Amino acid sequence: MIRACVIGWPIEHSRSPLIHGHWLTTYRIDGSYGKTAVQPEAAADFLRSLSSNGLAGCNVTVPLKEIAFATAGRIEDSALAVKAANTIWLEDAVICAANTDTYGFMTHLELTAPGWQNSASPVAILGAGGAARAIAYGFQQAGVEEIVIFNRTRERAEALCQDLGKGLRTADWSKRANCADWACVVVNTTTIGMKGAGHLGLDFASARPDCVVADIVYVPLETSLLKDAHAHGLRTVDGLGMLLHQAVPGFERWFGVRPEVTPALRRVVLDDLGAQ
Ligand SMILES: NC(=O)c1ccc[n+]([C@@H]2O[C@H](COP(=O)([O-])OP(=O)(O)OC[C@H]3O[C@@H](n4cnc5c(N)ncnc54)[C@H](OP(=O)(O)O)[C@@H]3O)[C@@H](O)[C@H]2O)c1
Repeated sequence: MIRACVIGWPIEHSRSPLIHGHWLTTYRIDGSYGKTAVQPEAAADFLRSLSSNGLAGCNVTVPLKEIAFATAGRIEDSALAVKAANTIWLEDAVICAANTDTYGFMTHLELTAPGWQNSASPVAILGAGGAARAIAYGFQQAGVEEIVIFNRTRERAEALCQDLGKGLRTADWSKRANCADWACVVVNTTTIGMKGAGHLGLDFASARPDCVVADIVYVPLETSLLKDAHAHGLRTVDGLGMLLHQAVPGFERWFGVRPEVTPALRRVVLDDLGAQ
């Protein structure tokens, strides 16, 4: 039996066991995927003991992603760009690390809003945390020439732009309201809107009609940002797809099958989130 798990501190909230459990059943794989609470002080040792604990690898969630990155012996570009890892596996006893959030976001964007990159227009990203880094890197890799980062704490946005370099610039948080007037994609990566709390303060009244609005918050599934964008006739991309697609590369590494993100899987997670 092949075993994998997700680690974090705390870990109760993680939906990863639901996603991987669904795939293990669907593909009739003799495997298991659990969740383990690991304190930050114990995370490096946990990762070094994967093999002796009978684990093929693991997912890593907050606040352990930076520790996983620092502990790995082989690091994919996806994790180097974000300076954090969420997927760990072993190759010849070496701890290998990737960050699959970039893949998850860009895949879902491409599938939900094909043709999003229909001009040489800039992309606007709200937020400058770990998720914003992964997404900015994704747009950079996709060849977007101008990526504008709005963040409440300007220094954090500047650090992100400095680290990723090409095509990135910051703009003042107070200037975000009309970014949909000029951006081909607007992405919320802040925690605003989570469980309905807060309001981003964007104005879509004069948005370009082809602007795509994405939110990586997925509780609720339709955030007030997406509701507002939808009401103005704009294409929207929810945060659940990113969560589901980011799980694909890890499952394939550990269990040897590239799983599909299907409506049935989406339903399983939506039911768990208590959504309609
Ligand atoms: N759908 C998915 O698969 C997926 C994956 C990863 C993350 N997420 C979600 O994405 C969100 C961000 O995650 P993260 O890991 O990047 O978190 P993080 O590193 O803690 O960053 C949080 C971001 O939110 C901003 N922020 C928080 N409260 C704010 C407020 N009241 N006003 C303005 N800005 C505020 C922060 O700005 P400052 O820098 O000024 O503090 C920062 O830019 C979370 O809701 C997380 O659940 C979803």
